[in-house]
Amino acid sequence: MAVAKNWKAGLVFAFFLSAVGIVYFGYFYCGSNCALKGNSSPSLRSNYDAYFAGRFLQNKFSGNELDKDYDLDLDEDVIVFLHIQKTGGSTFGKHLVENMEVDPPCNCYKMVKKHCDCLTKNKHVWLFSRYSTGWKCGLHADWTELKTCVDNWFQTTRGVKKRRYHYITLLRDPVSRFLSEWMHVRRGATWKKATLKCNGREATLEEVPFCYADEDWRGVTLEQFIKCPHNLAFNRQSRMMANLSKVNCYNTSGLTDVERDRRILESAKQNLVDLAFFGLVEFQTYTQFLFEHTLNINFINDFVQHNLTHSSGYNVSAEELRRIAALNQVDIELYQFAKDLFLQRVKQAYLDEELPVPEDLMHLTSVQAIEVEGGQGGHEGPPGSVEGDAMSDSPEHIELDETDTRDALAQQVAGHIFQHSGLPAKAPYPKLEARLGEQGFSDHGDKFSKGDSFNTVGERDPHYREKLKKSRKARAQDQSFDAERFQRHQQFRKRQRALHTQQEYS
Ligand SMILES: *[C@@H]1O[C@H](CO)[C@@H](O)[C@H](O)[C@H]1NC(C)=O
Ligand SMILES: *[C@@H]1O[C@H](CO)[C@@H](O)[C@H](O)[C@H]1NC(C)=O
Ligand SMILES: *[C@@H]1O[C@H](CO)[C@@H](O)[C@H](O)[C@H]1NC(C)=O
Ligand SMILES: *[C@@H]1O[C@H](CO)[C@@H](O)[C@H](O)[C@H]1NC(C)=O
Repeated sequence: MAVAKNWKAGLVFAFFLSAVGIVYFGYFYCGSNCALKGNSSPSLRSNYDAYFAGRFLQNKFSGNELDKDYDLDLDEDVIVFLHIQKTGGSTFGKHLVENMEVDPPCNCYKMVKKHCDCLTKNKHVWLFSRYSTGWKCGLHADWTELKTCVDNWFQTTRGVKKRRYHYITLLRDPVSRFLSEWMHVRRGATWKKATLKCNGREATLEEVPFCYADEDWRGVTLEQFIKCPHNLAFNRQSRMMANLSKVNCYNTSGLTDVERDRRILESAKQNLVDLAFFGLVEFQTYTQFLFEHTLNINFINDFVQHNLTHSSGYNVSAEELRRIAALNQVDIELYQFAKDLFLQRVKQAYLDEELPVPEDLMHLTSVQAIEVEGGQGGHEGPPGSVEGDAMSDSPEHIELDETDTRDALAQQVAGHIFQHSGLPAKAPYPKLEARLGEQGFSDHGDKFSKGDSFNTVGERDPHYREKLKKSRKARAQDQSFDAERFQRHQQFRKRQRALHTQQEYS
């Protein structure tokens, strides 16, 4: 019976793919930049469908896109943190000011809450973020705002000189993020001071009306939250990552929704690839690892991966989850792409550091990723054959039936996307209702802390640090490496640790 059912579902799916895929294929299976070349009609469906199956399509990235490596000189380099609401940015922002091995460390004021001076010995500001400079380019400034503002701000307030800016950000599973934003708004958050600047002016109230008439939207129900068409929570991550000049900013009258979404997604993907670094909230440990590998600055204490808690939550129905996903399709496309790029980068980083690739990472990149023959090149090949390969490689992974879809979605929301599970692709996942009923979906204020649902994924080899140091040491002995700089770095590390320990006990 089961076999027959699977076979049927597979056939239905294959039919769906060939019907829709031929038209849209070039678009979905594109890598970071081939969407720019493609002129096929846009659609956001295929990687979106994979999302419901707990999978994602694999892209082909170039060596440069996969292996970024910066050797920062904090007298000239500036890290710019693009903080998207409800993506764990507060916790990460604190890591940046309190937990980085830099000399001197940021000087944080106990009295002035949330403020630290992050200066080099020569008094250069090396971090642009909420806790260091504050919201100097607007509250939760997006890519478009930061790109036109950051250098201006530095030149006018910190002295005229050449600086190199390294943009970083975090992304999060879009359904979880959306729910988290709703809960935050329900508690009274508005972000109405966000300037939404683009093409030299702020968005007008006609362009982006408020969803609520009073001071705020306290107590809003999920239904009301979903129903407001101007709600900026929808596809927030893509919009905040895109160059909005490419869609005439917040004026939506000139483009169809489909075209606008397509351009936003395309731009957001490209900008994401071009950032110095991005992390995923669901993978704290890998986020830390990749940051350290890419920017060659370590954190003093390891990031913590929080587990789901059973506290004050809201039981989201399967139907609600489905609607939320549908309304955040662009973000799901972006997140799917980001997840693939992120995991490929982490894997590459392990190889570069000559560390064994952890099993769960192998699992994620092999079982979850849907390999497309030729990858990005699938764009060039005849669409039918590429789909055929994807199907015949792993038909049982792609087919979708009701149960799979629902449970996989629950998995996504729990931030538990087949992670380190060692589960076969068709494991009997706990039922959505049971899962969410039992664990609830909770969120604790602006802080990304216990309650926001994440699991211990990517738990690192306990000897990771030793191995990492060893491999860095090996690099130091390499002729091409600046040994003197490495020595200095080691000394900083020692001093910082001593300082940190001292602070802890004083
Ligand atoms: C954003 O897009 C516009 C229009 O394509 C372009 O002129 C501008 O240079 C882009 N901005 C940045 C910072 O790349
Ligand atoms: C929005 O763009 C259209 C053209 O695409 C233009 O006619 C209209 O005046 C613009 N609206 C605003 C408020 O700028
Ligand atoms: C999360 O749960 C795992 C296993 O149940 C446990 O080993 C780990 O310490 C927990 N992590 C946190 C941060 O509580
Ligand atoms: C969610 O469901 C569980 C079990 O059905 C129930 O005990 C819990 O109170 C519910 N939580 C909320 C916030 O409704």
